[in-house]
Amino acid sequence: MSEKIVLTGIKPTGTPHLGNYVGALKPLIEMSKTNKTFMFIADLHALNIIRDPKLIKQHTYEIAASLMALGLDLENAVLFRQSDIVEVYQLATLLMNVTPKGLMNRAHSYKAAMDKNAAAGLDADAGVNMGLYTYPILMAADILLYGADEVPVGADQKQHVEFARDIAGYFNHIYGETFKMPEPVIGESTGIIPGLDGRKMSKSYDNIIPLFANASELKKKIMRIITDSKLPDEPKDPDTSTIFQLYRHFADSAEIDALRGKFTAGGMGYGTAKTILFEKIDSVLAAPRAEYERLMANTAEIDAVLDAGAARARESAAETFERVRRAMLG
Ligand code: ADP
Ligand code: TRP
Repeated sequence: MSEKIVLTGIKPTGTPHLGNYVGALKPLIEMSKTNKTFMFIADLHALNIIRDPKLIKQHTYEIAASLMALGLDLENAVLFRQSDIVEVYQLATLLMNVTPKGLMNRAHSYKAAMDKNAAAGLDADAGVNMGLYTYPILMAADILLYGADEVPVGADQKQHVEFARDIAGYFNHIYGETFKMPEPVIGESTGIIPGLDGRKMSKSYDNIIPLFANASELKKKIMRIITDSKLPDEPKDPDTSTIFQLYRHFADSAEIDALRGKFTAGGMGYGTAKTILFEKIDSVLAAPRAEYERLMANTAEIDAVLDAGAARARESAAETFERVRRAMLG
């Protein structure tokens, strides 16, 4: 077990899909096998998008149950709800005072919102709430509160981790060494998992395959994957096929080679390839799916895990917050 502290947050804004599984959940579960990991459901960060508390709660359970069902090591991983730790709201408020407004103006997510407004001929800040504008400060509070050394995130979140470093640096400069410098860790790319229409699988494109769809829904979705119009006899390109690109994340290397061979040789129709894909994913996910369904029918069990995680997280949070408060307020 390494000594370093790994930390990451997952925003509960949708039902987990196969892209989230391959790109985020699976690598995080692997990482937690060898590192102490703070892993929280970032429900406070979902607030600037989702205004329905039932939905936030539902997605929080779905993510926690997915991680548990997939075998997250709950000894090494401290799994909790971001909102259960009051120190994070408090630290975010204190960090406001050392964070230059100009830093927030440069945030990609805020700039993207302004660009969208400009394109629509709207006021630059139309629809932008302070939750979106100060999002990176809350995220810095998350990272600094638990003394994270490494923060595994998708490439789109790298700037936010760099901002946390900047904010820690401003703070340390004024008040003396208080925070460790966190490093963003952008996992070796698993590549972009394509969705039903061939674009990136994303809830924004309505092209997802839910991670724990039941067998018949899974089959229906897979049968809807868009392919080109090659006939069964014709050779096909596995590298541009959504079917093959999904298959390679679930099968072992001999199986992957075998399916690649069938694509390039010709003689296999897309319908057959889809059946092979369905059977593979279904067999890999059947056991965790059963556990996921059991947990979702027993949310008290998920709450108990999240509460126990919060109790552990709070120890570290309280200690850091007290140091920060003393540094700033005496
Ligand atoms: P969505 O695009 O559905 O809104 P999110 O942005 O909430 O998904 O994704 C959460 C994490 O899941 C991201 O950090 C990313 O690492 C991973 N992820 C999402 N979609 C994909 C995909 N299609 N391929 C690979 N990884 C993905
Ligand atoms: N902002 C991250 C996302 O949208 C989620 C998140 C919140 C996070 N706090 C964090 C990630 C702290 C890493 C560390 O995906």
